[in-house]
Amino acid sequence: MRAVDLIIKKRDHQELSREEIEWFVQNFTRGVIPDYQAAAWAMAVLLNGMTPREITDLTMAMAHSGDVLDLSQVVPIAVDKHSTGGVGDKTTLVVEPTVAACGLAVGKMSGRGLGFSGGTLDKMESIPGYRTDLTREEFLHQLRTVGLVLSGQSGDLAPADGKLYALRDVTGTVQSIPLIASSVMSKKIASGAQAIVLDVKVGLGAFMQTIEEARQLARMMVSIGELSGRRVVALLSDMNQPLGQAVGNSLEVKEAIATLHGDGPGDFREHCRAVASHMLVLGDRASSIEEARRRVESAIDEGAAWERFRTMVASQGGDVSYIDEPSRLPQARLVEDVAAPQSGYLSQVHARLIGEAAVRLGAGRAQIGEAVDHSVGILVHHKVGDRVEQGQALFTIHANDESKLEAARTELLESVRWSSTPVSPLPLFYGVVTAENEEELPVHP
Ligand code: URA
Repeated sequence: MRAVDLIIKKRDHQELSREEIEWFVQNFTRGVIPDYQAAAWAMAVLLNGMTPREITDLTMAMAHSGDVLDLSQVVPIAVDKHSTGGVGDKTTLVVEPTVAACGLAVGKMSGRGLGFSGGTLDKMESIPGYRTDLTREEFLHQLRTVGLVLSGQSGDLAPADGKLYALRDVTGTVQSIPLIASSVMSKKIASGAQAIVLDVKVGLGAFMQTIEEARQLARMMVSIGELSGRRVVALLSDMNQPLGQAVGNSLEVKEAIATLHGDGPGDFREHCRAVASHMLVLGDRASSIEEARRRVESAIDEGAAWERFRTMVASQGGDVSYIDEPSRLPQARLVEDVAAPQSGYLSQVHARLIGEAAVRLGAGRAQIGEAVDHSVGILVHHKVGDRVEQGQALFTIHANDESKLEAARTELLESVRWSSTPVSPLPLFYGVVTAENEEELPVHP
C-alpha cells in the first residue's frame, strides 16, 4: 500500500476499506507516513466526508494505536461522560461525584484547557496537593476502593489521535465531523468506556456553531457507539453564553462546590442534573430519566455527592481544608466589577469572547505546556434575556495585573449586545440523540 493512493482515493470520493484505514493509522503513528501526507489526507476527508463505516474503522484503529484499558474487572459497567468543550463548563466536577454517590463508579481521564475552552485538570489543580498524574495502578485502585477518580491520562491512550489532532490544529482540518467524531470516540474507547454520555456543545463558544452541525456530529458519535458495541447518548447543549457564572479555575471549583451543596447558578445546576440522570440510566442505575433525577436530587440534597467529592480529593492528595472553606482557594489580588453602560435586555453574552478574555487574564494557555494562574477569571452575572439596569454589575473580574484587568474590561463590554425590547432566554438543551432515533447518514461538510 502507498499513502498517496489512499489520499487520492479520498480526494476522488471513494470509500477506504478497513485494511487501508488501519494501515494508514498504524504507519502514521509510527512515523512512516510523514505529516504532509497525513495533512493532505485529513484535508481530503474534511472536504469529501466519510461513510459511517469508514468513521467507525478510523475510530477503532485510533483507539487501538496505543494502550486500551479494560475496566471490566474493576466495575460492572464503565460509564463516562465527555463534553466537546466550552466556557465555564465545570460539569464533570459535580456530575461525577453525584453519579458515584448513586452507586455508579466512575473513573474519568480528563484534559487541560487549550484556547478559550477550559480543562478539568487545570480546575482541579486549584486545590493544593491534588494529584492529576495517577499511575494506571493508582487509577484502578482508587476506582475499586473509592468508586470515583478524576485524573489525567494514564498510559499511552490513542497516540494516533494525539498526533493527528496536533496536525489538524495547524492545517485547518479541525472542523470536520468525521475527524472530530473519531477523535473523541477513540479516546473514550481506549480509556475503557462501555457507555458514554456526550455533551455536544453548540453555539458561539463551541466547535459546532449551528444546531444542525451539532446534531450531525452527535448522530455520528452515537452511530460509532452502536457499531462498536458501546451505548452512547448525546445531549445537544447551548454554548452561546458561558455555563453558570464562573469562568476561571478556582472560581469554577468554588461554583462546583456550591452546586454540590445544592446551591450554585440555576442553569448550571439543571445542566448537571440532566447529564447525571442520563449517566445513571445508561449505567443501569435507574430505569427512567424521572427516577434517575430523583436519585440525583437526593444524592445532592442529602450531602452524599459532596462527601464523594471530598473523599476523592483526599484520596488524590488534595488538602480538604481548602474545599471545606473555599474562600481559602487561590484568590486574585484585584477584584473589580464591570458596570452595565446602559439599561436594556441582554441579547448576547458571547461565550468565546468571555473565554478569550479569561485566557488573557492568565486562566488558560495559548500553547500546550504553559502554566496557568488558578486565581484569575470572570464572574458573569447575567444571562441572555435578563433585564439589566445601567450601573448594575454585568461581570466581576478577578485579576493579578492592572493592565490585564483594564483590557478584560473592554473585551467583556464588547461581548454583550443589547436590545430595547424583551429577549427570550436561551434554552439549556436543544435535543437528545440516542441510537433509537439514529438515521444512517453519510457525513458531508
Ligand atoms: N475534541 C477532541 O477530542 N477532538 C476533536 O477533534 C475536537 C474536539
